[in-house]
Amino acid sequence: MPDTVAERIKMRGGLVAEWNEAFVTRSFPALGRGQVFLDNAGGSQVAQQVGDRITQYLFSANVQLGASYAASVKAADMVHQGRNALATLLNAERAEEVVMGATTTQLFDQLARALVQTWAPGDEVIVTNFDHEANIGPWKKLAKDGIVLREWSMRPGAHLPDLEDLAALLTDRTRLVAVTHASNIYGTINPIRAIADLVHEAGALLCVDGVAFAPHRAVDVQTLGADFYAFSVYKVYGTHFSALYGRYDLLLASGNINHSFFPNDKVPQKLEPGNANYELAYSCVGVIDYLEALAQAHGINSEGRAAVEAAFGLVADHEETLSRQLLSYLKGRPDVKIIGATEADQALRVPTVSFVIDGSSSREVVEQVDPIGIGIRYGDFYSRKLVDDLELPNGDGVIRVSAVHYNTIQEIDRLIDVLENLR
Ligand SMILES: Cc1ncc(COP(=O)(O)O)c(C=O)c1O
Repeated sequence: MPDTVAERIKMRGGLVAEWNEAFVTRSFPALGRGQVFLDNAGGSQVAQQVGDRITQYLFSANVQLGASYAASVKAADMVHQGRNALATLLNAERAEEVVMGATTTQLFDQLARALVQTWAPGDEVIVTNFDHEANIGPWKKLAKDGIVLREWSMRPGAHLPDLEDLAALLTDRTRLVAVTHASNIYGTINPIRAIADLVHEAGALLCVDGVAFAPHRAVDVQTLGADFYAFSVYKVYGTHFSALYGRYDLLLASGNINHSFFPNDKVPQKLEPGNANYELAYSCVGVIDYLEALAQAHGINSEGRAAVEAAFGLVADHEETLSRQLLSYLKGRPDVKIIGATEADQALRVPTVSFVIDGSSSREVVEQVDPIGIGIRYGDFYSRKLVDDLELPNGDGVIRVSAVHYNTIQEIDRLIDVLENLR
């Protein structure tokens, strides 16, 4: 296996240039101003193209949708372009399969309220102990409707869930399984396709939280076999906005949580009470603009979905070098316990790396890093059940370093120096 991005690129036929760090840094106006961003799993920086699209919307089409005058028709078209961009990012078959909203937490809540209308008391939902609360809490709330909750738990010491444990929980009353694509603590990528096959064999649906995965790899809901899949645009180089994919026939069959007079076949609007923010919807086009420009900066001329896949291929290679650098330092420290995969392999993990240091408070370590200008973070990151079940010796959770492709090896080295000096 070649070690460097350049070697990998050569192996692919030498079609693209070496990782273009200067281009990437230039594309994010917030970078290079003194703060190192290594809390990206909390939220990423915004690409220039995204800001440009917002401005374009606000200053050319900021009117209410649905009227027959020209500006309103234009505004509706721009919002639709935003929905299309999200469909491209998800590889959904059609834009109507994308429900837009403010946050993933809210979208899962909306989905749960829509689906429960078609379920009966005694039906079952399986949640995990290793998800972010966004994909647990909304399902747990359905207990008041008589829905029975079961928990798929990570085996002690493991960081990938066991499919036999899931199989043992599935019954003929299971309606849905809610699971994360990548853990925002372990950084490991779960085998969603295999999970989807198991869940579908049992006649149930699969709802995937893609928030911790989508900033790092191209999502493909069709290949994954996910029935529902959400991610937060504000972690994928965009603004505070979210998208929920739902298979068209499933959205059609779901309940309505919009106005009572909304026709049941108005998909996806019947799952979008109120309107999604228009300028932020349109700004999603800017994420595709950025990914196309990223591919182009590496000699790949492509558009739309092809550019998304090419760009994330480059991203995955660069991220792997960042993960490897950090993990090899952490593995060399006997006082550090990595919470998650210790290998950098891009097929196994994203560059979200959590760890604890023997005899140190995670809070104190992070607070000593803060003044250096490097933003990392400690805590449970709302994967509270997971961190509680880890029974860590300190009470303040893990230290999490979460990189994305705009981080550099130099930044990781700076962080390593700081951690080394704290010993
Ligand atoms: C894995 C994961 N899922 C869901 C969420 C919730 O996303 P949102 O803030 O869009 O509700 C987060 C937020 O940090 C997350 O990390």
